Amino acid sequence: MAVSPQNIADIRKDYQLAALDEKTVGDDPFAFFHKWFAEAQISHADEVNAMALATVNAMGIPHARIVLLKGLDEKGFVFFTNYNSVKGQDISENPNVSLVFFWKELERQVCIEGVAEKVSAEESDAYFASRPEGSRLGAWASPQSQLIPGRAVLDENYNKYQQEFGSDIPRPLHWGGYRVIPTQIEFWQGRSSRMHDRIFFTLDADGSWQKNRLAP
Ligand SMILES: Cc1cc2nc3c(=O)[nH]c(=O)nc-3n(C[C@H](O)[C@H](O)[C@H](O)COP(=O)(O)O)c2cc1C
Repeated sequence: MAVSPQNIADIRKDYQLAALDEKTVGDDPFAFFHKWFAEAQISHADEVNAMALATVNAMGIPHARIVLLKGLDEKGFVFFTNYNSVKGQDISENPNVSLVFFWKELERQVCIEGVAEKVSAEESDAYFASRPEGSRLGAWASPQSQLIPGRAVLDENYNKYQQEFGSDIPRPLHWGGYRVIPTQIEFWQGRSSRMHDRIFFTLDADGSWQKNRLAP
């Protein structure tokens, strides 16, 4: 018997796992992000470090895609990519970006707005060196976001760079990290009847975080 898919409009879920209040969140959004990230890891959320990255180019046209969080320090959220990609081009035109994490196992979302800046060459070198050999070759083989005539181009490039470098693969200068320095961080916890909890931090001019609650 054929399986009939559910009507999209009828797909809904009532969120009942948890609540979020101002006291629990505390005053340091970085500390609270670490807490939620650890809880997402413990909950076995798949690809817990996957986040949507939205960029906007000089024409005001937005682009969004998933990237992986690869570092988090007191300054911001780090991901790695090809600097010549669409996202790299957008950031060079407009450094304002947005990140979104969705940990559905915990009915949680974190939305971040901030400014992206390139990490140091040393930081990119260190992370590149930690990647598996195939990923390091891939960074050379793929002209990310460019039109290519077919899959064969990638395989040819990959083989070419494998011959050229052997196992001593340097970081391509067009590949590296960005750090998103946040100016806003929102923690969202799903609640029943769409009455969700949203605790919202904004960065003041003096460097302190202001905490507020947003209507769901
Ligand atoms: C789970 C997942 C993780 C990804 N991680 C990265 C990443 O860390 N860096 C990256 O450049 N692309 C990553 N990608 C691919 C991007 O989504 C995107 O296709 C690519 O970066 C090109 O984007 P752009 O043309 O908008 O620049 C990931 C995709 C998925 C689905």
